[in-house]
Amino acid sequence: MAIVSSSSGRKPPSRSEALVDPQPALEDVVTRPEDKLRPQCLDDYIGQTELKQVLGIAVEAALGRGDALDHVLFYGPPGLGKTTMAMVLAEEMGVQCKVTSAPALERPRDIVGLLVNLQPRDLLFIDEIHRLSRVAEELLYPAMEDRRLDLAVGKGTTARTRSLDLPPFTLVGATTRAGSLSSPLRDRFGLIQRLEFYGLDDLKAIVERTAGLIGLTLTPEALSSIAASCRGTPRIANRLLRRVRDVASVRGGGGSAIDQALVGEALSLHRVDHRGLDASDRRLLQLLIEHHGGGPVGLETLAAALGDDPVTLETVVEPFLLQQGLLMRTPRGRMVTDAARSHLAKAA
Ligand code: ADE
Repeated sequence: MAIVSSSSGRKPPSRSEALVDPQPALEDVVTRPEDKLRPQCLDDYIGQTELKQVLGIAVEAALGRGDALDHVLFYGPPGLGKTTMAMVLAEEMGVQCKVTSAPALERPRDIVGLLVNLQPRDLLFIDEIHRLSRVAEELLYPAMEDRRLDLAVGKGTTARTRSLDLPPFTLVGATTRAGSLSSPLRDRFGLIQRLEFYGLDDLKAIVERTAGLIGLTLTPEALSSIAASCRGTPRIANRLLRRVRDVASVRGGGGSAIDQALVGEALSLHRVDHRGLDASDRRLLQLLIEHHGGGPVGLETLAAALGDDPVTLETVVEPFLLQQGLLMRTPRGRMVTDAARSHLAKAA
């Protein structure tokens, strides 16, 4: 499978380049360590069992018919493997994967350029698809539905539409904000799939696989410790592993064996606790407790007090705290839970 990338040069607002930020850090964008470590096929992809079942059947059926895979929308928090899964799908289908993101498709000619260069059954991956411009979205409707590209030719009274036939292709969209997609766009996806946070066993298997690929061996305790601190997110697990490797190279005398003490040192260096909360998470929970009696507090107020962007707070920071039962969303705002209070008391 060839991967053809068209970069946006812009990324969504990031809380920081924090160790446990699930969004790609500069290191991930520049050196793309994930690319070398990505699983190549569904069998190598660890976790997301139901998703793999659904996609495995869709791929086999499409291959059997000799047709393109139906359009797929992936949604869920960042870092869970939406891009990886798109690349795996292309590999399974034996086609090219063209990778882009919505902010890179500002002008109509950007999306037209990608569509007219598609080969039959190719996969076009659009990250952050909720950020598509209106024009790009309207070009996609007939392309997705009827494999037709409607181009406006001429201006004013001589303006007309010229239609081009497109080969069968698959659009794979990814978003952290499924609710922000317009319904005409959402309705054109045949498969709409949520990616879930990973469980501890899957995370341990992912870290062990990555460690093997980069020539490290971890004790079972070290594996468990990384798995517990990565917020259910493979991107963070692999980043933690690289930071642990840094500590190991400095402290460990050049050996490749990693034990729990080295993991603990890397975590405390970056102020990440054993549940994967960093200083910003603790500040959020503490702010709710100390200044608002535990809540409820509205998202905008909370974001302003933390100097954060409300969208980042809602789509990047909160999902893990909610999933862990440390935070609640109520109609009147965010509230901390008793579990958060006792976690902070223990961490203090
Ligand atoms: N690396 C990152 N995510 C992975 C996954 N789900 N399976 C295998 N390796 C991975």
